[in-house]
Amino acid sequence: MWLHLAVLVGLFYLLRWYRERQVVSHLRDKFVFITGCDSGFGNLLARQLDLRGLRVLAACLTEQGAEQLRNQTSGRLQTVILDVTKTESVAAASEWVKERVGDRGLWGLVNNAGISMPTAPNQWLTKQDFVKILDVNLLGMIDVTLSLLPLVRKARGRVVNVSSVMGRVALFGGGYCMSKYGVEAFSDSLRRELSYFGVKVVLIEPGYFKTAVTSSKALSQGLQASWNQASPEIKELFGEKFLANILKSDLLDTTCCQDLSLVTDCMEHALTACHPRTRYSPGWDAKLIYLPMSYLPSFLVDLMVYWTNPQPARAL
Ligand SMILES: NC(=O)c1ccc[n+]([C@@H]2O[C@H](COP(=O)([O-])OP(=O)(O)OC[C@H]3O[C@@H](n4cnc5c(N)ncnc54)[C@H](OP(=O)(O)O)[C@@H]3O)[C@@H](O)[C@H]2O)c1
Repeated sequence: MWLHLAVLVGLFYLLRWYRERQVVSHLRDKFVFITGCDSGFGNLLARQLDLRGLRVLAACLTEQGAEQLRNQTSGRLQTVILDVTKTESVAAASEWVKERVGDRGLWGLVNNAGISMPTAPNQWLTKQDFVKILDVNLLGMIDVTLSLLPLVRKARGRVVNVSSVMGRVALFGGGYCMSKYGVEAFSDSLRRELSYFGVKVVLIEPGYFKTAVTSSKALSQGLQASWNQASPEIKELFGEKFLANILKSDLLDTTCCQDLSLVTDCMEHALTACHPRTRYSPGWDAKLIYLPMSYLPSFLVDLMVYWTNPQPARAL
């Protein structure tokens, strides 16, 4: 009985391995548009796909980021300035893409741009703090996608949306987890909708990786700023010790994975494999901690968070 089971599991993985190895043809003719290429995953993916011979259209937030990227890549890679929160910037970038791809359409759209601040307990924040993150991570992604979809449909291509394991389990307050839950919902509904048109929608759900988004220095500064703006009542409820305990935690510095290629390899596979997965979860923490956690009953996750997080001063 166990032997049969082992053979079945082995066969399943063998078949999956074989299926996932098949690569789409004419990669050198395919255009891929990536947002947030100044740094982190977007920057590495742009360089990686350029090396692989694809036609990379890299959107950067700043001219400095764009110039640096152009200096590191082949003449085939082209850059454009894009702020995903500004509809006129999105419209201009879409027009720019349209002029470049022509009748071929856009093979790949990688929605990668994102921010993580301000992140703090919800009660320390204002509506505007939530709007700031949702505007980039969710509404910006939706705007870019709707704007470029006609070109992706034309190529029967791929939409690759960068979510997070925090889109599967919300472990801290602020707009970040919410925005990623939104990315998951948008991508799931879009995938079902676009299946009729030959377009595949893929989600990337990384664990923690060392980039600007997880910079403990920037996150600490943001946390301190949120604390400063919190009301006297909230400060009294949480207490200075609570803030100090979070600020002194070096968990992110010690646990973040440095190898960003684990993420960009998943993105590359999503764009170049004949049969991409629906979801990729790069990072050992995503696979071994956060995804299993997301399947646990809520009361268990609540208990784990209760036991591991600092307690507010006036906790009951
Ligand atoms: N690092 C992680 O552990 C992790 C885990 C899960 C998911 N993610 C997600 O991965 C994606 C990439 O983040 P990353 O980790 O590579 O961090 P990153 O280096 O900060 O990359 C984010 C990029 O987005 C750009 N950006 C910020 N606001 C923008 C806007 N309004 N319009 C256009 N571009 C904008 C940033 O430009 P500037 O550099 O000029 O600010 C930056 O190039 C994000 O969606 C993030 O949520 C990251």
